[in-house]
Amino acid sequence: MAEQRFDVVPMIAAAELADRVEALAADIAADYGGALVMVPVLKGAFVFAADLMRALGRRGVAVRVEFLRLASYGAATESSGRVQLLGPVPEVAGARVLIVEDILDSGRSARFAAELLRGAGAAEVRLCALLDKPSRRAVAVAANYVGFVIPDRFVVGYGIDWKERFRERGDLAVVEFG
Ligand code: IMP
Ligand code: MG
Repeated sequence: MAEQRFDVVPMIAAAELADRVEALAADIAADYGGALVMVPVLKGAFVFAADLMRALGRRGVAVRVEFLRLASYGAATESSGRVQLLGPVPEVAGARVLIVEDILDSGRSARFAAELLRGAGAAEVRLCALLDKPSRRAVAVAANYVGFVIPDRFVVGYGIDWKERFRERGDLAVVEFG
């Protein structure tokens, strides 16, 4: 089978992402005060979470990190509708937790994560998503902090992949299939 044709078109520049991360960190620091437990949802959120964590650090917030590895997409560009836990359950008993997601799409991953962490004894669970595609929502879930609201396009870069590609881009781009 011939490889699928596509173009990768820049959407949000690295400098704009950096500015937005600083603004999110200011909001989060104001709400949480001195400390929080950040739970980045792997793999897609790791670049965003790393930047957000350091922006919080600059504001004097002590950040503990516990990773959560979920899978919902596989290699396709449409969610399978099922969310799977791939790694261990994060240790969050008694913690004020901030889930960090790359993209809020159907909302299934975020809902799964929030239920899992409440079940694991978190004292409080909030959600921060770099990107929100509200038109794609299939389950009722809202983020407490959103970087950018975007239309229903397939995006890559800044940790976000298509078939494990393009995570290393510093900006966000749209994949346009030809
Ligand atoms: P949800 O469970 O449908 O909300 O899907 C969330 C996950 O799907 C995200 O954390 C991403 O890993 C993946 N995803 C959703 N939209 C995109 C996209 O445009 N590009 C790459 N991955 C995406
Ligand atoms: Mg992915």
